[in-house]
Parts: sequence; structure tokens; C-alpha cells
Amino acid sequence: MKTRTVTLTDNATGKSIELPVREGSTGPAAIDISRLYREFGYLTYDPGFQSTASCSSGITYIDGAEGVLLYRGYPIEQLAERSSFLEVAYLLLYGELPAREQFATFQHTITHHTMIKESLRGFYQGFYHDAHPMASMVGVVGSLSAFYHDSTDITDPRHREIAAHRMIAKMPTIAAYSYKYSVGEPFSYPQNSLGYCANLLHMMFSVPSEEYHVDPVAQKALDMIFILHADHEQNASTATVRLSGSSGSNPFACISSGITALWGPAHGGANEAVVHMLSEIGDVKNIARFIARAKDRNDPFRLMGFGHRVYKNYDPRAKIIRKMCHEVLEKFGDTNDPCFELAMRLEEIALKDEYFIERKLYPNVDFYSGIIYRALGIPVNMFTVMFAVARTVGWVAQWMEMIGEPDQRIGRPRQIYSGSQRRDYVPLAERAVSG
Ligand code: SDX
Repeated sequence: MKTRTVTLTDNATGKSIELPVREGSTGPAAIDISRLYREFGYLTYDPGFQSTASCSSGITYIDGAEGVLLYRGYPIEQLAERSSFLEVAYLLLYGELPAREQFATFQHTITHHTMIKESLRGFYQGFYHDAHPMASMVGVVGSLSAFYHDSTDITDPRHREIAAHRMIAKMPTIAAYSYKYSVGEPFSYPQNSLGYCANLLHMMFSVPSEEYHVDPVAQKALDMIFILHADHEQNASTATVRLSGSSGSNPFACISSGITALWGPAHGGANEAVVHMLSEIGDVKNIARFIARAKDRNDPFRLMGFGHRVYKNYDPRAKIIRKMCHEVLEKFGDTNDPCFELAMRLEEIALKDEYFIERKLYPNVDFYSGIIYRALGIPVNMFTVMFAVARTVGWVAQWMEMIGEPDQRIGRPRQIYSGSQRRDYVPLAERAVSG
């Protein structure tokens, strides 16, 4: 079949270049511009990557206009309802839902990688007691390559798979230890008898002085939230992991770079920022004032948990979490939780406001997730840590896909240069005060 092409013409010179179009299995096609600079002398300029496909991937598909999210072709609504986080982890890593024996083997492997080297527990003592858990998590994950040398040869597929399993298995332990250190409590070891999310809750909330039983509703709610956060195409943190990995960095260092990118309030840090924002708004009567601030170009305030680079419709994950809020608050919290009430009123008012309608700004995954985390007893400074635990599966799957590509090359963007033209050095004695 003849490849579709587009022709680019330079109106100043009349010169043209014909560029091939790359089609995906669904969704927008892309103009392959890899020859553009070499043959036509132009770079492309797209600082926020609004119109740039950085790779071809078969893992996650988003239709932002329709509010569709598929993991390996399966709708997020069906996976959230019927699957489990560890089964979704297998699906994202290997591309297919596991058969019974495959899942049993995968689950056994992950369970038996949950411990971290005992000396890593000492690493936490180096942090000040009030270190943000994201800070200690970034540090500990970045240091893993100092402990696990036997799975850092990225050219060896078996090393890559062991490192992937280790990363997925150890994140809950590292996250729980970051929390325990921040509250000055003793660390709890992982329990192999517990499932993935139950183990995380146990390591976070059990204390040596009494029995701790994980509530099945809490475990199910966390498992579903983790499914919703597992992967999301080429978001900022995943793109960071891919760029780090493209230079051949070890997988632990790549995941650590993803955690740092996720931390920002424009990205995964938004779930923590939403709760701070709701507390600042405080009461329904103040909503109008904050909406006005969000619309004011001269005010840096934005409605946290609203808007999305890709979704120009309701984030399908936000819909699922919003529904889950009612169930979780009924069980653990207060169905009249002022924070939840305020969030729903804020959403209702914003979605009727021309500014938000015109810009297609809807609640995103972070708008309601914090309300559930709080109801589960998870402190605000651990919200983005929870996001990082879940997204590690997506980061690892995307890293594996990239490293496994035969034509994988280092990512090295160019720039438009806006600085000084060439000039000669002026000795200090001859310099007038500049500027
Ligand atoms: C996540 O990419 C992913 O997939 C991310 C994620 C994932 O799973 O990995 O989905 C997770 O990060 C969700 C997003 C969480 N962040 C927030 O909730 C922070 C608040 N949202 C915004 O900062 C913003 O909406 C972004 C960062 C999410 C998207 O930014 P864009 O695509 O660069 O949008 P933009 O800044 O170009 O906004 C377009 C217009 C602007 O107004 P105008 O200049 O046209 O007048 O919309 C306005 C913006 O000022 N706008 C907002 C707004 N978001 C955008 N105005 C008020 N409040 C907001 N939240």
C-alpha cells in the first residue's frame, strides 16, 4: 500500500520536501520529520510537545476528545471494575492478560522481591526527620543500583525483566518506609501472605505493639486507584523515564528520574495540591473568589485537579474515582466530608463557567483521588508517593518497550538559539559595567 505523504513548501524559496506519514493502529497519524533538518534545513518548534509524538508505543491509548483510556486495548472502566493492579501490571508489561499459571508465577515473583537490602533501611536515617516522603523515595530509588548490580545490564533481556520485577515489587516497601520514617515509627517488613496493596497498607499502618488487619474495602479501593494510575501514554514523567533510559542509564536511575518529574504540582503533585487548595478555599461561599483567581491571567493560581494536556473531556479516571468516593466515605470517612462536598460544588460551578467550558477544562485524575487517600488514613504528603508506586508499573513497561526496540537511539532534542552572536573575550580591566 502506498505510504501517505505530506509536502512542505518553503514559500520564501519555493523549495519543497515530501515527508512520509506514520499511521498508528488507531488515533492521530504523525508526519515523520526525521529527514527535515538534514534535507530541508529546518527544525520544528513545539516546546510543550503539544503536537509531537516522541515514540511509537503499543501500551496505552488515550482519546482526549472522547475521554477514552485503553491499556493494551482494554477499557480502563472494565479493568478498574474487574481486574486487579497486579494483573494490570502483567498486562502492561507483557501485552496480554495472564493465564492462571502465568499470573500465579508473576505474583509469586513480585511477592518474593518485596524486601529491600537491610542496609537500605539505614539510608533513611540520613534524612532529616521532616523530609517530605517524595524526597526520601527519590533518594532511595536512585540508590538501588548500588545494591542490585546483578540486574543493571540493560542489554540482557533477563536483567531487564529482573530489574522490572524488583522495581514493581520494592516500591510499596520503599514508599511505606518513607512514610514510617516521616512519622518516626518503626518499619514493618513486607508480609508474603498479603496481596500487593494489602501489603502496602500493612507496612504503612501496622505497629509492633498490636495486630493489624487490612480492611478489604480499603485494599480494594487502593487497588482500583492504583489501576487508574498505572500508565498514561507519554506524560511528563514517562517521557522523562524514556529520555533517561535512552542514554543507557540503569533502570533504577531512570525510575528515580520519573519520580522527580511526577512530583511537580502540574503533574502528579496535583493530588496533594488539590487538598491544599480545598483547605484554602475552606467554604462554598469562597468558591467564586477562587474561580475568579483561576481565570485571572495575572494571578498564578490555577484550579488544581482541573485541565489536562490531552483530555478535552472528562478524565475517565476521575469519573471512576468520584463514584468510588461515595463508597469509601460511607465506610471510612464522613459522607458529608466537607472536602468532598466542596470538591463537588467546585466542580459543579466550574463546569458551568464559560472560561472552563471554552477551554475544555474538566476534573482530572488528581481532583478526587486525595479525598479517597485521606479517608484511607493516608496523609497528604504521601499522595504523590502513592501515585509514584502505581505509575512505576507504567514507567517500567514503557522503559522495557523502548530499550527493546532494535533502532533505539539516545533522545537529543535541538533548540532555536536566541542568545548573543559570536563575540571576543574582553579582559577585566577593559570592561565597563554591563546591563
Ligand atoms: C496529571 O499528561 C498526563 O497524562 C498527566 C496525568 C497522568 O496520568 O500522567 O494525567 C496526570 O498530571 C494530571 C494533571 C494534573 N495537574 C493539575 O491538575 C494542575 C492544574 N492543571 C493545569 O496546570 C493544566 O491544566 C495542565 C498542566 C494539566 C495542562 O496544561 P496545558 O495543557 O499546558 O494547558 P494550558 O496551560 O495551555 O491551558 C490552556 C488554557 C490556558 O488559558 P489561556 O492561556 O488559553 O487563556 O487553560 C487554562 C490556561 O491558563 N488552564 C487553567 C487550568 N488549566 C489550564 N486555568 C485555570 N485552572 C486550571 N487548572
